[in-house]
Parts: sequence; structure tokens; C-alpha cells
Amino acid sequence: MTDIQLIETAKKAMSNAYSPYSKVTVGAALEGESGKVYVGCNVENSSYGATICAERTAVTKAVSEGEKKFKRIAVVGNLGVQMFPCGICLQVLSEFAPDIDVILEQDGKLFKYTLKQLIPKAFSM
Ligand code: THU
Repeated sequence: MTDIQLIETAKKAMSNAYSPYSKVTVGAALEGESGKVYVGCNVENSSYGATICAERTAVTKAVSEGEKKFKRIAVVGNLGVQMFPCGICLQVLSEFAPDIDVILEQDGKLFKYTLKQLIPKAFSM
């Protein structure tokens, strides 16, 4: 799958976002080392802190299905800017895939980052 295809997959997942409170819709497509792609969207809650981000939805789905190593993640949102993962999602990604590539999009242009660029000093034990 190409980077653009992974972005398109994330966009499809974004259409399932449940975000009646913020109205921000986010989609993620996470590629496992097996080649399987796990999608996620943000799922909000009236108790705001119970909200789960799109990226963590995808990671949780993958790990619960037995896949723990990842190559790339594409993330898209409806804000018209590159949808940088939040700090919690960066930390969660670093747990399983410190060397993952993060693919974002703005105005039809793709941008690629290493996770280490986005969270250079992730906590680990
Ligand atoms: N959100 C994500 O899904 N991923 C991020 O990395 C940042 C924020 C969601 C959570 C919430 O539903 C909405 O965006 C606004 O914060």
C-alpha cells in the first residue's frame, strides 16, 4: 500500500468518527508488520476525559488482535491542517513502534515524519 492509499484509508475511517462535542473528526490507518491495516477514529464521550483518539483506537484494535509491531500510521482530520497526534498518542505509539513513520496530509500534500521527530524523548522503563 502506498502512503496515499494509507491516507485514503484513514479518511474512510474518519467518516466513522463520533465527535458530537468537539465536531473534530479524526481518522487513522495503522499498518502492521504483517501488512494488515487497522483503522481507527476518535470516539468522544459526554464525560470528555473518556474520549479516545483515533490513533489509540487503531493501536488498541491491532494489539487486541495480536499485532504489536508497526511500520506506518496515517492520520487525517477535518481541521484543514496536518493532524499531528497528541502527546498521549505519541507516547502510546512509542510503546509499540518507536521507529514508526507518521504520514500526514494538508491540502492534498503528504508529509512524513519519524515518531522520534515528534517525540524525541519518549518515556520508557
Ligand atoms: N483527537 C484525535 O483523535 N487524535 C489526536 O491525536 C488529537 C485529538 C480527537 C480527540 C477529540 O475527539 C478531538 O480530536 C478534539 O480534541
